[in-house]
Amino acid sequence: MAPRPPAPAALTPETRVLSRNFGVAGSWTLAVARERGAYASLEKALGSMRPDEVVEEVKKSRLRGRGGAGFPTGVKWGFVPKDSPKPKYIVVNADESEPGTFKDRYLMELDPHLLLEGALIAAYAVGASKVWIYIRGEYPLCIERVEGAIREARAAGILGDRVLGHAFSCDADVHPGAGAYICGEETGLLESLEGKRGHPRIKPPFPAVEGAFGCPTVINNVETLMHVPWIVAHGGEAFARQGLPPDPANPRSLGSAGTKLMGVSGAVRTPGLWEFEFGITLRELVYGYGGGPLEGRAIKAVIPGGLSMPVLTEAELDVRMGFDELQKAGSGLGTACAIVMDDTCDMVDACENIAHFFADESCGQCTPCREGCHWMEKIFRRIRSGAGTPADLDLLEGLFVNIEGRTICALADAAVWPLRSIVRKFRGEFLRRMRPQPAPGAAAVAGGR
Ligand SMILES: Cc1cc2nc3c(=O)[nH]c(=O)nc-3n(C[C@H](O)[C@H](O)[C@H](O)COP(=O)(O)O)c2cc1C
Ligand code: SF4
Repeated sequence: MAPRPPAPAALTPETRVLSRNFGVAGSWTLAVARERGAYASLEKALGSMRPDEVVEEVKKSRLRGRGGAGFPTGVKWGFVPKDSPKPKYIVVNADESEPGTFKDRYLMELDPHLLLEGALIAAYAVGASKVWIYIRGEYPLCIERVEGAIREARAAGILGDRVLGHAFSCDADVHPGAGAYICGEETGLLESLEGKRGHPRIKPPFPAVEGAFGCPTVINNVETLMHVPWIVAHGGEAFARQGLPPDPANPRSLGSAGTKLMGVSGAVRTPGLWEFEFGITLRELVYGYGGGPLEGRAIKAVIPGGLSMPVLTEAELDVRMGFDELQKAGSGLGTACAIVMDDTCDMVDACENIAHFFADESCGQCTPCREGCHWMEKIFRRIRSGAGTPADLDLLEGLFVNIEGRTICALADAAVWPLRSIVRKFRGEFLRRMRPQPAPGAAAVAGGR
């Protein structure tokens, strides 16, 4: 077993950006939130900044989306057409449908006013008059707290006509989801918000140009928007100084600026959620904060963020938790909520389980995803039953190639990435589950009777 590293210091309540109000009694109420500075950044933006200055500050911050794809937030806001006569919308992606992920849940339960403040600043920046918050239906406390915050904010003149007395009007509403993974995908979410099946749309047009109800729409993750008040208060450059800088050797690198909520679940002693500056290693997160493996066990593999990323083996855990760093290591940051598997985890069983999830959640629009995910599930089931052959591993490799990058949305890619990495890194486990193969020439001998 690898030696347990000393845990680097997590951020203190004073230096936290997102979780500074966690643990404060009544942190979700307007009275407590205001006492602790809520809506000061909204007041600053409305009172002293032009909308384009807010967008510029967010661009300077190098804030990247926290929903999984890491798209630069300021750039996305800049895509909204200024001269469109249509209403504009902010849609908060609070579906949190990724397995193993539980960060947005705590953010909404414990600090819903920070979310409203971030969403209102975004609305001001792009000229939106309405905020939709699409919350996972299985999160009743989030729905209750965010709806409560909306009611309080309306009563206090923070939402509605002339927000905080300024020439800017905006309202917000919650839309509960009904439990489909695909409704976390931004265009599936928009369809669902419009009352239709959550079938992702072909892009372009991108939502910034044609989103909810055919109108320009910015869709951002909960955590992404909750960074915005800090950026307005302290400036984009101060935010960009935290975390990991862009890779100077790669002109396309954006780095990983700021802080991030990171979680650990699965086969560890102390699963949980913490806020760090980008840069902590995955090993420090899993061993230092997650407490390492359970008594007598050893860690075998970790998916760094949710289920939809390639696994890393125990020997690969020294990678830093950053967008570019994890990509270079052959995986991805995803939601930064790591899933840990130990030596009791059967990788064939794990693959069948993962394939089943994606097959079940596929919306069925694209043939490679609809048929391919079920086909992968059947192959893993066959291997698990002992009836597989090495040719099944070649068949899987063919499926990975024919599914990845050939569908409307990234759900199908998200199925391929963990499965392909497990099949390649733990091939021996698959071969051991297969039925004994005839020795070369055995068939000819038997047939030549
Ligand atoms: C299958 C699938 C599920 C997704 N689920 C979520 C989700 O639950 N929450 C989320 O914020 N983003 C999710 N995303 C990413 C969104 O499509 C989108 O990139 C994100 O909401 C953009 O916000 P951001 O730029 O602030 O990250 C999902 C993507 C896919 C392909
Ligand atoms: S990739 Fe799968 S989930 Fe996404 S649109 Fe196609 S069928 Fe639906």
